[in-house]
Amino acid sequence: MEVVIVDTPTDAVPIVADAYSKLLTEKPDAILGLATGSTPLGVYKELIRRHKEQGLSFAQARSFNLDEYVGLPEGHPEAYATFIRREFTDQVDFRPGAVKGPNGLAEDLLQAAIDYDNEIVDSGGIDLQILGIGSDGHIAFNEPMSSLGSRTRLKTLTEQTRADNARFFDSIDGVPRLCLTQGIGTIMEARHIVMLGFGENKADAVHACIEGPIMAKWPASALQLHPHTTVVVDEAAASRLEEHDYYKTTWSKKPDWQSI
Ligand code: PGA
Repeated sequence: MEVVIVDTPTDAVPIVADAYSKLLTEKPDAILGLATGSTPLGVYKELIRRHKEQGLSFAQARSFNLDEYVGLPEGHPEAYATFIRREFTDQVDFRPGAVKGPNGLAEDLLQAAIDYDNEIVDSGGIDLQILGIGSDGHIAFNEPMSSLGSRTRLKTLTEQTRADNARFFDSIDGVPRLCLTQGIGTIMEARHIVMLGFGENKADAVHACIEGPIMAKWPASALQLHPHTTVVVDEAAASRLEEHDYYKTTWSKKPDWQSI
């Protein structure tokens, strides 16, 4: 696991956007794993800018969202399918139908989850997965105690996550209780994972997941077993890391030719 500590979230943007630019140059038909939430928004803005000003193209790429609330009507502004189109994919040149997400309105939610997982596998697998981290250490909506081998499935959100996400809704009562989420086992099959964490309220989770034992109580700790994960955190989210200085030195000595 490579840990990159930057001063501010803005400083993380070019590092992560460069990983997309490199991938799409080498493999224009790459499969991208997309995350919602506020954390990746700066990266998406930069990718939109590179598309408009530098011709970065997603025309041959496909994408899979990590998760979706259950029961939000189609087009609801906080449904993740709507969110990703508004904040990113509609502003670049993905082909119609190339942007996928779990169907939180399916009549058979259990089957929809299995179908979605199979679709990811059948696509050849995700080349670059961007992740946020919850204040409770969740990745996607894999809440604490999720099986570290889990596949895409129906989950119940914790009250902590509902409270964290209430800021996007009129009140916490509007935040759904159920979701469909890629499992930790599904996410772990991505070839390169970039997890971002910004702000003081992520510091405990970042510390536990990077430096603590691997355990279901801290779902992102499973990434310690992944062969190519890059964690990019700002100083606030890194404030509890015991090996802070080691990560800083390692990054500063990284050869210029080596990307994340
Ligand atoms: P946030 O959410 O980006 O809105 O902080 C991250 C997450 O819950 O995974």
